[in-house]
Amino acid sequence: MAADSETHTTDLDSILGRYAHDPNALLQVLREVQELRGYIPSSSISYLSLKLGIPRARIEGVAGFYSFMHLRQNGEYRVLFSDNITDRMLGSQALMEKMCQQLWLQPGKVSEDGLVSINTTSCTGMCDQGPAMLVNGRAITCLTHQRVQEIGSLIRNRTPLADWPGDFFSVEDNIRRSGPLLDNTGAPGDVLRAALALGAESTVEAIKNSGLRGRGGAGFPTGLKWDACRNAPGAARHVVCNADEGEPGTFKDRVLLTRKADRVFEGMTLCALATGAQHGFLYLRGEYRYLLEPLQAILQRRRDINLLGKNILGQSGFDFDIAIHLGAGAYICGEESALIESLEGKRGVPRSRPPFPVTHGYLQQPTAVDNVETFCSAALAIQIGAENYRAIGTAKSSGSKLISVSGDCPRPGIYEYPFGVSVREVLQDCGAVNTRAVQISGPSGMCIAESEFDRKLGFEDLPTAGAFMVFDDSRDLFEVARNFVHFFAHESCGFCTPCRVGTSMLKQTMDKIAAGHGTRHDLNEIEKLDKVLQTSSHCGLGRTACNPVLHTLKRFRPAYENRLKSLDFEPAFDLDGALARARQMTGRDDAGAHLKTEGA
Ligand SMILES: Cc1cc2nc3c(=O)[nH]c(=O)nc-3n(C[C@H](O)[C@H](O)[C@H](O)COP(=O)(O)O)c2cc1C
Ligand code: SF4
Repeated sequence: MAADSETHTTDLDSILGRYAHDPNALLQVLREVQELRGYIPSSSISYLSLKLGIPRARIEGVAGFYSFMHLRQNGEYRVLFSDNITDRMLGSQALMEKMCQQLWLQPGKVSEDGLVSINTTSCTGMCDQGPAMLVNGRAITCLTHQRVQEIGSLIRNRTPLADWPGDFFSVEDNIRRSGPLLDNTGAPGDVLRAALALGAESTVEAIKNSGLRGRGGAGFPTGLKWDACRNAPGAARHVVCNADEGEPGTFKDRVLLTRKADRVFEGMTLCALATGAQHGFLYLRGEYRYLLEPLQAILQRRRDINLLGKNILGQSGFDFDIAIHLGAGAYICGEESALIESLEGKRGVPRSRPPFPVTHGYLQQPTAVDNVETFCSAALAIQIGAENYRAIGTAKSSGSKLISVSGDCPRPGIYEYPFGVSVREVLQDCGAVNTRAVQISGPSGMCIAESEFDRKLGFEDLPTAGAFMVFDDSRDLFEVARNFVHFFAHESCGFCTPCRVGTSMLKQTMDKIAAGHGTRHDLNEIEKLDKVLQTSSHCGLGRTACNPVLHTLKRFRPAYENRLKSLDFEPAFDLDGALARARQMTGRDDAGAHLKTEGA
C-alpha cells in the first residue's frame, strides 16, 4: 500500500515536472492524472493542492466543470456514445441500448464490478462517419451492431485498448471537394519567408487587404484583430488557435489538423510575427485526443528546422513557440474568453467583455484568438497575395470556406468552395435528394427550408462556421430542434441565471410537447423566453439557444402543431401519469383510479 502511494506521488511529480509546476497548467495536470488513473483520486487532489498552492476546493471545482473528468471511479472502460442528431439518425440510440443489454448495465451507471460505464456525450466531431463513440477518450466511428457487440466482448474480457483491432480507431478525412486551402502544396516556412520580406506591419496590412474574416463563426476581420493585438500596450503577447470545434455538425478543423497542420502552425507563427507574440497555444478539443502525438511531432519538426524557437529563420528577436492544451469535454470552452480561462487552468466560464482578449487575454495580456481555418487562410493569403486572395469568393466574403456536410446524403464529408456557393449546389454535390431542411452552422446557426436553397453561403447572406446538416423528408424537424435544445441545456456553463434556467425551461417545454401535453401557450412562452435569453445572457450560447426552435417553428410549424393539445394551458407535470405506479401497486386501473380528464 505504501509502495503504491509512493508510485502515485512519483507519477504526480513527473506530471507536475512536465508542466514546470505551473498552476495555470492545472487542467492539463488533471487531464494527465485522469489518463493515468481513469479518474482523479482524492489523494491526488490533496497532493496537487500542496504542490501547486491551489486550494482543494478550487481543484475540485475545476475538475467538476469538465465532463470528461471524474472525481470518482467511473469504470475501467468509459464508453460515451456521441449524441448529435446525425448519430441518432444513424441509429446510435439502438446501438447504445444493445450494448447496455449486452453488459447488463443502465446508461449513466458504473457496473457493480467497476468494469464499465456507458453514457452519452455531445457531438464528437465525427458526423461524417457516425455513429461514433469514445472509449476512454479514444474515438471509434462507423459503429454497427456487429462492431458494438465486438466492443462489448472486448470489454467483458478486459482486453486492453492497445490490443483492440487497430482499424476500430481509424478516422477518415472524407475530403470530397478541395480548393486553394486543401490543395495547397506550399513548403513549411515559405509563408514566413514571404512575411519576413514584407515586415510585420505590412503583413498586417496584407491580411487586412485580403478581406479575410474569422472562420470560427463571428466573422470578425482578422487583420483588424491582429492590428489591435499588435498595438495593445504591454510586452508579452500570445497567439491562440481555437481548435475546440464543439458545434454539433462541424468537423472541418479536425481534417485541417490531420492534413494541413503545418499550415495551421505556419499561420500561427505568421500571426506571432505580425503581432509580436512570443507564446502560442493550440487548444485542442478532448475528443481529438488522438491527434495530440502527431501534432506534437509536427511541432518538433518545425523546431528542428528553426520554424519555431529562437531567432526563427535567422531573424534576430523573432522568438515563438507553440504548446498544445487539451480540452476536456466542455462546448463552452470554444467561446474565446472561456477558452482563455481554461488555458489558465480554471473553469471555462466566459469573461465579461470588454475588455476583449486582444488587450486582456491570456494572463490579462494581449492575445489573438483565431480559428484553425482562419490561420490556414491567413497563410494562404500571404502566399498568393492579398489581391489574389480577395479575388476568390464574394465582395464581403473573400476566400474559400470548408463545409462539413453530414446527415441525409450519400457523400458526407469536407467540401471546400469559394464563398458565395448556393445551398442547392452543395446539396447536389453531396448527392442529397428529397431534402426537407438544412441546418447551417450548427444548432446556434440557422435552419432553412427548400424554398431557400438558392441562398448563398457567405457573410452577406448565410454566415457559417462550417456545419451543414442535411435532413430529408422522412425527418421530423421538431425532434431535430429538441435534440439541439437538449444540447444547449447540457452545455450551458450555468454562470448566468437566464441561460442556466432558460435553457432548462426550454428543454422541459420541448419534452412536454413531445409527450403530447403541449399547447399554443407553450409556443408563445418559447418566444418570450427567447427575448429574455437574447437580452440578458452573458454569452453567445444563451443568446442563440432558442434559435433551433424558432427557426423550425417558423418553417415547419405543423411539426409542432400536430403534437399540441387544443387546450390553452396544460401543466408540465403529468399528475395522472405520476400516479401510475400507485395504481399498479393497488392492482387498480378503473376510471375511478384515474384523475378526471377533460370532458369525463
Ligand atoms: C458558445 C460558443 C462556442 C464557440 N465555439 C467555437 C469553436 O469551437 N471554435 C471557434 O473557432 N470559435 C468558436 N466560437 C467563437 C469564438 O468565441 C471566437 O469568436 C473565435 O475563436 C475567433 O476566431 P476567428 O476570428 O478566427 O473566427 C464560439 C463562440 C461561442 C459563443
Ligand atoms: S449565457 Fe450560458 S453559457 Fe454563456 S455564460 Fe451564461 S450560463 Fe454560461
